[in-house]
Amino acid sequence: MSVFLCNLSDLVEDKWMTFTAADGDEEDTYMVKKQGESIYVYRNFCPHQGRRLDYAPGEFLETPDKQVVCPAHGATFKTEDGFCTGGPCAGDSLKAIAVTTRDNKLYIDAN
Ligand code: FES
Repeated sequence: MSVFLCNLSDLVEDKWMTFTAADGDEEDTYMVKKQGESIYVYRNFCPHQGRRLDYAPGEFLETPDKQVVCPAHGATFKTEDGFCTGGPCAGDSLKAIAVTTRDNKLYIDAN
């Protein structure tokens, strides 16, 4: 089942953003970054202790080489695959979300 997440026109190039989608009674927050033709979407949920990755709604810390930093305990994650390169959950990954685009809208593939 596809669930609407955002309009493609909502995305800002090379900037992490957050959107919320409801899947039945469950509502989750997702972090989205557009880089050129690629769109990266992860559940906004750190694999260490489950904290959000944005320190304020839609605001993210990044290293100079553009890895996203968990504000709770400093874990760092690669944009391309969500792999944790350092911090207390090194070797884990953010949960990647499969997406589809249609009519300039982004949908997550919920199951
Ligand atoms: S909750 Fe993210 S590093 Fe601890």
